[in-house]
Amino acid sequence: MVRFLGGLVGLFFAGMLLLSFIWGAVSVVPVLSEHGKLVAPTAESEFHEHPRQVAWSFNGPFGKYDEAQLQRGFQVYSEVCAACHSLHQVAFRSLADLGYNEAEIKAIAKAHQVPAIDPNTGEATTHEGTPADKFPLVYPNDVAARAANNNAIPPDLSLMAKARHDGANYIHSLLTGFREQPAELLRKFPDAKTGEGLHYNPYFANLNIAMAPPLTAEGQVTYGEGQPKPTVDQMAQDVSAFLMWAAEPKLEARKSTGVGVLIFLIFGTVLAYMAYQNIWAGKEH
Ligand code: HEC
Repeated sequence: MVRFLGGLVGLFFAGMLLLSFIWGAVSVVPVLSEHGKLVAPTAESEFHEHPRQVAWSFNGPFGKYDEAQLQRGFQVYSEVCAACHSLHQVAFRSLADLGYNEAEIKAIAKAHQVPAIDPNTGEATTHEGTPADKFPLVYPNDVAARAANNNAIPPDLSLMAKARHDGANYIHSLLTGFREQPAELLRKFPDAKTGEGLHYNPYFANLNIAMAPPLTAEGQVTYGEGQPKPTVDQMAQDVSAFLMWAAEPKLEARKSTGVGVLIFLIFGTVLAYMAYQNIWAGKEH
């Protein structure tokens, strides 16, 4: 009897497992179809492109940031992107990672006005930034951001490189991907014409982004002595690397810990194998 009941319970669990598997499979199918394989093609499914791969210095298990590149990227951010995009999760003192010294960081912070409270009146005011402050917001609120940007909000860039798939490559491709809408697209999808105030960019999810191309001319930013030529592609790479650092400042520590752990595990495996050999050495088959 107990056996029979046990069997029934087992059957019940197996049945539920099968049911939930089928249920899961069914609910995944519409997701697949959205990527354009099972339903009619759309402009996005046909013309969206995946980011081009850049050989970043921080790729691979031994990857490291290139300080000079991060400084150039910070320069591009400050001189171009900061007009619209904040970097609100990053504190000025973190810029020490880029190789800036204390005096330089103080000067960078001082050039920004950050929100504060007047100690006498309690009124909201601003003061010059200190290394402990974070980069201030560009717009006081979303309404102001929309009003200044054709009804689109420039997102905060602190975590952008992690918020998008293949972040650094994506940002680089996005910045260098602005172009004319292909004639073939308009022929196939006459309704998909890029709207007023939007810009065609095949790397952006819906192909039409509200940001005008921010990097348009070689030499838009002047790099210091001994640095590479500031071509549009170079500036885009540099600012993407900088945003990668902003989103993951501890990348180098993470990678070197990973390598250490792997070495430890290999060593542990060898020890375990030797112990096994030792324990069974005297036993007959
Ligand atoms: C004139 C204002 C302006 C400038 C300057 C600007 N952007 Fe933007 N950016 C925007 C707006 C507006 C959006 C939102 C676009 C949308 O949602 O369609 C945006 C969106 C983005 C996005 C998000 C794309 C996504 O996948 O959602 C990234 C990344 C970005 N900008 C990077 C940059 C970088 C890097 C620079 C500097 C080289 C820069 N932007 C300069 C206005 C600007």
